[in-house]
Amino acid sequence: MTTLTNSPYLTLDSLHHHSQKVILDNQQSGGGYLACPNMPDYQFSWFRDGAFISYALTVDGYNFPFHHPVGLAAQWDSALNFHAWCARIINERAEALERTISRAQKGEALVLEDTLNARYQDAGAAGPQGWPEFQLDGPGLWLWSLAKYVKVCRIDPLPSDWEAAIERTARYLAAVWRTPCYDAWEERGDAVHISTLSAIYAGLNAAERLLPRLDFTQSREQIMKFILKNGLTPSGELAKSVGVDMVDANLLLAALPDDGLLAPDDPLMLRTVARIERELLAQGHGVHRHLEDTYYGGGAWVLLGLWLAWYKTHIGDYDRARELLAWAEAHADAGGNLPEQCNHAMLDSSYYEGWVKIRGEIANPLLWTHAKYLLVANALKGLNR
Ligand code: BGC
Repeated sequence: MTTLTNSPYLTLDSLHHHSQKVILDNQQSGGGYLACPNMPDYQFSWFRDGAFISYALTVDGYNFPFHHPVGLAAQWDSALNFHAWCARIINERAEALERTISRAQKGEALVLEDTLNARYQDAGAAGPQGWPEFQLDGPGLWLWSLAKYVKVCRIDPLPSDWEAAIERTARYLAAVWRTPCYDAWEERGDAVHISTLSAIYAGLNAAERLLPRLDFTQSREQIMKFILKNGLTPSGELAKSVGVDMVDANLLLAALPDDGLLAPDDPLMLRTVARIERELLAQGHGVHRHLEDTYYGGGAWVLLGLWLAWYKTHIGDYDRARELLAWAEAHADAGGNLPEQCNHAMLDSSYYEGWVKIRGEIANPLLWTHAKYLLVANALKGLNR
């Protein structure tokens, strides 16, 4: 698929610039980001993808602000519009979310229509139905990303509609975190996923920083206790889901900067990443999502190669980060676009064509991958990258 031949984006700086452009060009007028501009099923804005995109723009706007006719940095304007979009989506659903909070607190079954979807159309509409929408990591990640934005851009006081959305989202997460839901890959809706709990934990932490009057200590302690009791593999790594002796690359969510469940160098995190690297590094680099992945054959994810590189910068392993970054750069297409995954080293290639028939070619460019690229480039800034 993607090759570097004749790519005008061979140098880091031009790929950096192209990443900014891909993201900003594909933000919609309402503030949502299309996950991928040319894949029909990805013409939506996900809380999860958008949280990482806005986080990357917040960091990038600080380090590499580029002139914008109205604001200080185009990246910050973009992140602001995304955060306002999320707040709007959440506030519009205030009554439904309150019903969910009250059901969860009474121990009643949740009603799907009253929960948050993973993705929305830019104008705010949900659907079409039939997508595994009930995912709890996205709203947690939004709070995590918003806290970074508010801190870096020194927004004080917060707009009142943001306050309302922050508080409601955090109360919603604190009420429903025990409920099985689809994971960050939109799979296995009947399980409790440790990556999802990690994102919720970070979101609650972030909510407290955003609004110091909030206190979710009890929920956070319960989540941590629950993970340590039910969320470890027999060999002592974080498990993909409760009761499963497998890791998943989405467990990198456990060491999010600022508000994460674990410090990047926590022995539990180091053990988890060591197993991810042992089992999920694809031949010739790139990272598989998990060993049972069949989506587009379960190829090597460029997104995950970059995520691992970003993690490596947090533990000071810059050489490894550079190696992983170089692999990702080598998988930019001739236009500098970075895909979700690439179709080499597939775990089961018999599934590849089936997915191409359903969804078209692998998503490329994927805005979330470009965001991860920006994060790694920023982390290596000034380090003679
Ligand atoms: C991934 C999700 C992602 C979505 C949009 C799906 O294939 O599994 O993690 O949010 O694409 O990029």
